[in-house]
Amino acid sequence: QLRMGRSTTVGMIVLDVGNPFFAELARGAEDAALEHGLAIILGNSNHSISRERTYVDLFNERRVAGLLISPTSDDLTALEPLADQGTTVVLVDQRPDDSRFSSVSVDDVYGGRLAAQHLLEIQRRRLAFVGGPSSIPQVRDRLDGFRAVVSEAGAPARVEAFEGSALTVLEGRRIGEQLAARPAADRPDAVFAANDLLAIGLEQAFLMSGTIRVPQDVAILGYDDIAFAQSAIVPLSSIRQPAYELGHRSVQTLARQFTGSDRAPVQLEFLPELVQRQSTAPA
Ligand code: RIB
Repeated sequence: QLRMGRSTTVGMIVLDVGNPFFAELARGAEDAALEHGLAIILGNSNHSISRERTYVDLFNERRVAGLLISPTSDDLTALEPLADQGTTVVLVDQRPDDSRFSSVSVDDVYGGRLAAQHLLEIQRRRLAFVGGPSSIPQVRDRLDGFRAVVSEAGAPARVEAFEGSALTVLEGRRIGEQLAARPAADRPDAVFAANDLLAIGLEQAFLMSGTIRVPQDVAILGYDDIAFAQSAIVPLSSIRQPAYELGHRSVQTLARQFTGSDRAPVQLEFLPELVQRQSTAPA
């Protein structure tokens, strides 16, 4: 039976420690770790599978009691050695297909559906989705939900999807400048971004072009509702994920599996919610 105490160390690997979403998630995890007498070692995979493998091996060598991981993809084979030797693994921000591992995540298909419903409600029809690499399951799910509502609505709406190379402000700026360079008739009248960093970059590019008003010409909707969303020049509407709660509950789930007799994996799933601000105000 594992002794809970100062020496009990947990490894945590997040996708992008520079993204405020994961900083907030780590804050929730760290608070819960303190409550449970656990120490956390934080690793940043930075969306790189090789970096993720390095951290998994490092945590394996250090014989951590548990691992919290937001995986870079849905290929979880690298985690098997840990599970085989009894390390408790909890997936964070992603729900696995198989239930070998516990998970604490958000229903991102539902989040994408909320986004399309909102943009159709404010009478936008020329919709664009700006995402990151489609290898990221969270991004894929958001686009799937978005497209599903648009096709169900039967509205004469269409979706133009852009696959960015990263989920960063800089990438949002790059794609935003491409859109701003188009003739007005060829531009979308609303953009759904896979996260707030992309949305903030898009908004900066539109406003700096001097020819696009937000939301009058193009509405912008983000995802995560990071603290900065409300202080963007045009306050950003966003599909909110409970980042702090995700982190806090993932450590609780881990601790319960350490100590509890019931080691059966559990899947906890949260629903995101729409936070409407000026960037999608009805025209
Ligand atoms: O960094 C990748 C994105 O996936 C974050 O913004 C958050 O939305 C996570 O789910």
